[in-house]
Amino acid sequence: MTQDELKALVGRAALEHVIPGAIVGVGTGSTVNHFIDALATMKVPVAGAVSSSRASTERLVARGIRVLEAGEVERLPVYVDGADEIDPRGHMIKGGGAALTREKIVADLAERFVCIADASKRVEVLGRFPLPVEVIAMALPQVTRRFARLGGEAVQRAGVLTDNGHPLLDVRGLAITDPLALETEINQWPGVVTVGIFARHRAQICLLGTAEGVLTLRY
Ligand code: A5P
Repeated sequence: MTQDELKALVGRAALEHVIPGAIVGVGTGSTVNHFIDALATMKVPVAGAVSSSRASTERLVARGIRVLEAGEVERLPVYVDGADEIDPRGHMIKGGGAALTREKIVADLAERFVCIADASKRVEVLGRFPLPVEVIAMALPQVTRRFARLGGEAVQRAGVLTDNGHPLLDVRGLAITDPLALETEINQWPGVVTVGIFARHRAQICLLGTAEGVLTLRY
C-alpha cells in the first residue's frame, strides 16, 4: 500500500472512535483529510466539528459538516489528528502543517486524543522530524539562540505564516528523550507561542496504518 492509502485506512478506522450525534475535534493534515471524508459518510452524523485550521474548516464545510468555534464548546469527547512523529508513550511531534497552536487548543478541550498515522510516523525517540515552534516574530533571534544552546539548529520556515499570523521555526538536531520536560521548558521562553511537542496533550490511542492493516496502540 502507498503512504496515502495507509493514511486513508486509518482515516476511516477513526470513525469507530467518533460518537454519532456528538461534536468531534478535528485536526489538520493529509491524514485528517481522509478522516473528514469518512466523517461525511456516517449514517448517523456528528452534530458538528471543532476545527484546528482554516484548511480543515473549508473541507468540513464543503462536506456539509457544521463547524463550531472552540469557544462554543466546553469539552469534546474525542479529538482526531495526525502526527509527524509518535513515540512509544504516545508523545508526538506535530506542526508539520503549521497548525500546531490551534491543534493544541482543540486537543486541550478533548477527553481523548486519537492519533491517526501511517507506520512511518512511529519512532523510538522524538526529534528526527524537525521540531516546529510558532514564535512571535520579534523573538525569533533569541529563541533561535536558546535552541542553539540545547544543540538544536532552528531555521525559520520560508514563506510560511500560521493561521495566527506568526512565523515558525523548524528545529533540527534535538533528541527529545524527555518530551514533557522539554515541552515545559520551551513553553517558558518569552516569544514562544506553541512548541510542537505534544506530551502534556499526548495521544491516548494511535491507529497506525501498516501493510498488515490498522494497529491499535493504547497508551
Ligand atoms: C499539522 O500542523 C500537523 O500537526 C499534522 O497533524 C501532521 O503534520 C501530520 O500531517 P500528515 O497527516 O499530512 O502527515
